[in-house]
Amino acid sequence: MAKAPPEEESSASKETMDNRSISTVVIITTMRTEALPLVNKFQLKEDLNPVFPMGVPWVRYCGTYKDLNINIIWPGKDTILGVDSVGTISASLVTYASILALQPDLIINAGTAGGFKCFDMYSTLMFSCFQAKGASIADIFLASDVAFHDRRIPIPVFDLYGVGLRQAFPTPNLVKTLNVKVGKLSTGDSLDTSPKDEASIVSNDATIKDMEGAAVAYVADLLKVPAIFVKAITDIVDGDKPTGVEFLQNLLAVTAALDQAVTEVVDFINGRCLSEL
Ligand code: ADE
Repeated sequence: MAKAPPEEESSASKETMDNRSISTVVIITTMRTEALPLVNKFQLKEDLNPVFPMGVPWVRYCGTYKDLNINIIWPGKDTILGVDSVGTISASLVTYASILALQPDLIINAGTAGGFKCFDMYSTLMFSCFQAKGASIADIFLASDVAFHDRRIPIPVFDLYGVGLRQAFPTPNLVKTLNVKVGKLSTGDSLDTSPKDEASIVSNDATIKDMEGAAVAYVADLLKVPAIFVKAITDIVDGDKPTGVEFLQNLLAVTAALDQAVTEVVDFINGRCLSEL
């Protein structure tokens, strides 16, 4: 029989992939506080034969939950400063290493985010809210799109490369079933929001802001693994409290909401194939 041309072959094999039950899931987290309750919930164990290079602080918790092989990846503490390795560099590295080592069917990037209660060109100038974006503390969002807001390269086409807009894997059934909001996510390496970041976030039409999502999306896209983004709101970026203070105040309570949401997402995924999400 004649062999299918490569393009048809790859779309046929993609269809097969989308139609078989999801088996291996990698959950990329950032902070220990986010990871540990999930590790307990799914009764995972720390991997004692690490799949990651010797000496890196990255941690994999793994085990079987229902019919799924679950891997929670935590980038660990910075080897010098001892704080959680937040931001795009660690997120890209652990996503890359996890995909190579574990060949997941799906990546879930789970974490906290800042949210915009309202955001448009005029709100910051006039302190009024013309266009409601509608994020509140402890809301759970599934990101529809992700992009960067701090990679400004004002040269044609490089500007688009810098923004790095990507779509999350579409999950219409998951969105219908779970009590989540849907919005665009903007990623940068700072917790605070400079005026230039703010302008880019407006241009990205984002409702939520984090420090990892677009980096995870870049690597997942590069290696052709579907990725979804579950984000819980710890602070209101266009509110009146200092971000760092509000973030720390809400971290524990919001993490509980995040873990509940991730559990619901995983329960929904169990026994389903990608095309049913
Ligand atoms: N994670 C939680 N809150 C955030 C914010 N305001 N900006 C970026 N990442 C966050």
